[in-house]
Amino acid sequence: MEEQVMSMPRIGDKAPAFKAVTTQGEINFPEQYAGHWVILFSHPADFTPVCTSEFITFASLEQKFADVNCKLVGLSVDGLYSHIAWLRTIKEKIEYKGMKNVEVRFPLIEDITMEVAKKYGMIQPGESSTKAVRAVFVIDPKGIIRTIIYYPLSLGRNFDELYRVVVALQAADAFTIATPADWRPGDDVIISPAGSCGVAQARMEGKEDMVCKDWFFCTRKISEQQVWDAVLKK
Ligand code: BEZ
Repeated sequence: MEEQVMSMPRIGDKAPAFKAVTTQGEINFPEQYAGHWVILFSHPADFTPVCTSEFITFASLEQKFADVNCKLVGLSVDGLYSHIAWLRTIKEKIEYKGMKNVEVRFPLIEDITMEVAKKYGMIQPGESSTKAVRAVFVIDPKGIIRTIIYYPLSLGRNFDELYRVVVALQAADAFTIATPADWRPGDDVIISPAGSCGVAQARMEGKEDMVCKDWFFCTRKISEQQVWDAVLKK
């Protein structure tokens, strides 16, 4: 029997390219998203409860993501007519945590052949060989994969965390810093110990707000307003 080849893209890789049919027409990925951040995410199956709660939540947050220049693209290995029927049912019948009449306006890719899911390592046979796991790829405006998160079938995602990831990555790019555990806009940020944007450079530039607990642990302040000024789309 022919062995199935499954690729696993990695952080820092160019997002694998594909063309696909979606609930919003054909897409050419990631080319048509150049200049935008994108979250490409998979779900195991239409008409399943955890996925339904996720779609209602993500669709309700679509504008919040758009405000930080981030577009959403979903995928499952179901067909287009299943996607359309499921999204219609969600809008007409399902309420979750007070969210109701929710219309999913972002594209949902049909992937019956699993071609895209396999390219992105979304089929993980130890979990399921017929459904995609809950994968999340955060892709930057140059088409580079910047974060990958995988969840199993039984675990619904935390969308506050996905939003935090997008904002933190944009803040890291804008200020050439890193963000510590549980960072939120307004919290102190980390200055890397080494490299051209590191502690030595910050000292030379007289960054007086830099505080070092030791040579490897230096922080500085970036106000919440500075972060939002850098990430919110004007
Ligand atoms: C769900 O979305 O509810 C689900 C999908 C596949 C397996 C288990 C749960």
